[in-house]
Amino acid sequence: MIQIEKLAVEVADSWEKIIHDISLDFDLGKNYCLLWKNGSGKSTLSAVLAGSPKYTVSHGSISIEWKNLLEMSPEERSQAGVFLSFQNVPEIPWVKMSEYLRTIYNQYLKYNSPETPELSPFVFKRHVKKYLQDLDIDESFLERDLNVGFSGWEKRKLEILQMKLLSPKYIILDEIDSGLDLDAFRKVCELLKSIDSTENTLIIITHYFKILEYIDVDSVHIMKAWDLAMSGGKELVEKVMEGGYDNLV
Ligand SMILES: Nc1ncnc2c1ncn2[C@@H]1O[C@H](COP(=O)(O)OP(=O)(O)OP(=O)(O)O)[C@@H](O)[C@H]1O
Ligand SMILES: [Mg+2]
Repeated sequence: MIQIEKLAVEVADSWEKIIHDISLDFDLGKNYCLLWKNGSGKSTLSAVLAGSPKYTVSHGSISIEWKNLLEMSPEERSQAGVFLSFQNVPEIPWVKMSEYLRTIYNQYLKYNSPETPELSPFVFKRHVKKYLQDLDIDESFLERDLNVGFSGWEKRKLEILQMKLLSPKYIILDEIDSGLDLDAFRKVCELLKSIDSTENTLIIITHYFKILEYIDVDSVHIMKAWDLAMSGGKELVEKVMEGGYDNLV
């Protein structure tokens, strides 16, 4: 479980407060949807969970399986099962895709299966091949720089490849459904559906609710910058779709 208690977040090195007082739990095995308007702090919360240095937690706590998440480095958070699919997937020149994937996979092994030796570039390539085939990703992508020049669909496929490689427990999907053509959107949803299990938690952030036709969510949280405006079940999504956010609270 990830437990967020009375969280307040500021932009690092400034007094600008973005999140004022949010308390939220994410149970392992359940799925969640976070909704609200542009600029309400959804991506900020996601970045804080992943350990972005851009933000400072000025109040409150976050724990993962009862351990203090805020004391963990981004690498440790990833090893503990937190995965963030970025709203804007970063492009990182000079970092080769194959080396990036091998590094994160070896980190995963170190934490989850310490007796397994690190995979060499050769062995890792063999290991990742079946995932590439499943996702219809050409092997030449392994030689490219991380996300550089990738299309929206290619970036998402590479994120899903990482999800398949690492089997993260808490998967934050920050608008994974934006910027995709209709076919790519459907494929992403189908792939996420195939990843969804009782062993993981999907936290869906969306402005387009169609993704919820593919993935069942247990709870919906309506998030205002100051705090949580409302929590409930899928009926909240229906309400938002009918009347927008302004008529909700
Ligand atoms: N590094 C930063 N410096 C200054 N302000 C920031 C920073 N990061 C976020 N903010 C501000 O915090 C507020 C919340 O932004 P955030 O991106 O978390 O919203 P969001 O709910 O994800 O919006 P959207 O639905 O448009 O993606 C915005 O007003 C944004 O400008
Ligand atoms: Mg956002």
